[in-house]
Amino acid sequence: MALRILITGASSGIGWTLATYFHQAGHHVIGVSRSLPKTPYHFSYVCADLGDVTHLHLAAQEVENNTDAIDVLINCAGIGVSGPIEETPINEIDRIFRVNVLGLVEWTRLMLPLLRKGDTPKIINIGSVAGTLVIPFQAFYSMTKASVSVFSEALRLELKPEHIGVVSVLPGDTKTAFTQNRIKPEIPKDSHYAERYRRSIAKMERDEISGKDPMTIVRVVERLLKRRHLPISVTVGFEYKLFVFLKRLLPSRLVHWILFKMYG
Ligand SMILES: NC(=O)c1ccc[n+]([C@@H]2O[C@H](COP(=O)([O-])OP(=O)(O)OC[C@H]3O[C@@H](n4cnc5c(N)ncnc54)[C@H](OP(=O)(O)O)[C@@H]3O)[C@@H](O)[C@H]2O)c1
Repeated sequence: MALRILITGASSGIGWTLATYFHQAGHHVIGVSRSLPKTPYHFSYVCADLGDVTHLHLAAQEVENNTDAIDVLINCAGIGVSGPIEETPINEIDRIFRVNVLGLVEWTRLMLPLLRKGDTPKIINIGSVAGTLVIPFQAFYSMTKASVSVFSEALRLELKPEHIGVVSVLPGDTKTAFTQNRIKPEIPKDSHYAERYRRSIAKMERDEISGKDPMTIVRVVERLLKRRHLPISVTVGFEYKLFVFLKRLLPSRLVHWILFKMYG
């Protein structure tokens, strides 16, 4: 059965891969992001800045003019901001929360009336293992992704009587433009953190560049679309499942020692 699938962040990376795959599979896809995809595409598109609430209301109206209902909402748009907590400008912290948290929350609320008219509706929120495995110089990104997981769980409980499924999908390092799009504010040359920050970011970027193909996430999402009852969250990849499991199992101080050795 062809589903009506709305995907935010469909212009690039994971969202683009999801949108093109599901469109080619015969579903009716609507993409949302600030800019249109750079590669030719054949699905519907609505431009909206998730960081701007007024924009979102206008975009929601455009979606309503496009479709009577949505079966699946995939909240995939997101940005990264790195930096030492002490030296990250407050406007960048504000920006990441506006896009990754407030934008996602408001967009979901705006889409709920259309989801209620959908067939076995589902909301799939793309979080990150960074919301669970916290690393230094990524505090604000981790905070937003932890919020996505908390939001998903609460929403799931609130929507349960209406049989609208909610799940968070938590990828680890994935090879996309996310690495080059990450906002890296300038920090003072004499910063206490300068050298550690440089090394930590370099390691993280190397891991992302050699990370998983976005199709790995598509396969996870595809399996979720076939399920009647969604799990609460899915961590993508065996190694990340293992890290998350070990974090629960091992003493917290040992986990922090390992994370400090790797990224501190
Ligand atoms: N790559 C990774 O290693 C990784 C790991 C774990 C989780 N994730 C998560 O996966 C999701 C997708 O990331 P990606 O790797 O595919 O990165 P990406 O290639 O940079 O794609 C990000 C998408 O979000 C959209 N976006 C950014 N700011 C927006 C805004 N203000 N309003 C509307 N759309 C906006 C971008 O489109 P425009 O610029 O056109 O607006 C783009 O389509 C993110 O939520 C990210 O946190 C990524």
